[in-house]
Amino acid sequence: MDSAPPPQELLEIAIDVARDAAATAHRMRAEGVSVAATKSTVTDVVTAADRAVERQITDALRRLRPDDAVLGEEYGAAERGTDAPARVRWIVDPIDGTVNYLYGLPHCGVSIAAEVDGEVVAGVVRNIHTGDEWTATLGGGAWRDGRRLRCSTETDLGQALVITGFGYDPSRRAHQARVVAELIPQVRDIRRLGAAAVDLCVVAEGRADAYYEKGLAAWDQAAGGLVAAEAGLVIGGLKGLAPGPDMVIAAPPALFGPLHDRLAELDASGGP
Ligand code: IPD
Repeated sequence: MDSAPPPQELLEIAIDVARDAAATAHRMRAEGVSVAATKSTVTDVVTAADRAVERQITDALRRLRPDDAVLGEEYGAAERGTDAPARVRWIVDPIDGTVNYLYGLPHCGVSIAAEVDGEVVAGVVRNIHTGDEWTATLGGGAWRDGRRLRCSTETDLGQALVITGFGYDPSRRAHQARVVAELIPQVRDIRRLGAAAVDLCVVAEGRADAYYEKGLAAWDQAAGGLVAAEAGLVIGGLKGLAPGPDMVIAAPPALFGPLHDRLAELDASGGP
């Protein structure tokens, strides 16, 4: 089995690759973008840039770390030159916030995380349009522009600005909308910004208090989840479960319990 380098080394690779990827996505957006295909539903779109950027990231990682595994949103598990188990797996969302990207809304990013033995140890999220870049290593803190990130210290759910997101399946959205309708009178307000990885970083730097969403895939939350956790947020699912497709909650320690309990009462991980 191959050896695993330290998280900082993996992070430096992720940052270089993410910067080049974001530059490609930015250039392709400026040249004009259209829907190349749809995935789970007619509103779940993929652009030529999603595919080109994921290929670019995978090729770069393959060049730099040939024995590692790569999981990407558009192409799934990339082929490797060996059958030997890989200790390092890269988890890639070439463009998180594809609908924002399509419409030219600036809230979208490249997300690259490195897992070692199944645990995310390094991650970078880079905004394609603004160049904002959030990084983290396990135990090494979350950072942006040389500044260590600390999450909100809000303790009152009624004062909390909460970010969430919605899936692409209409029946899932109907359930998510019912949950939001019950939650919104009990918090300061709700935001739906449209890119889960970037949303988690926004919460990591305290520009919102908490985040929750049902239906996230590994690539949506791997890097942003580490940034959020390293900024002091508690990350979890409902009822003691790990964060995953059923639910990801990211909240400051004092808010996690109240938000979790309200979401559990509302059956936020239920429905389709
Ligand atoms: C989506 C975005 C969105 C979230 C969805 C994700 P994509 O990712 O992160 O904010 O609400 O659950 O699927 O499709 O733009 O990569």
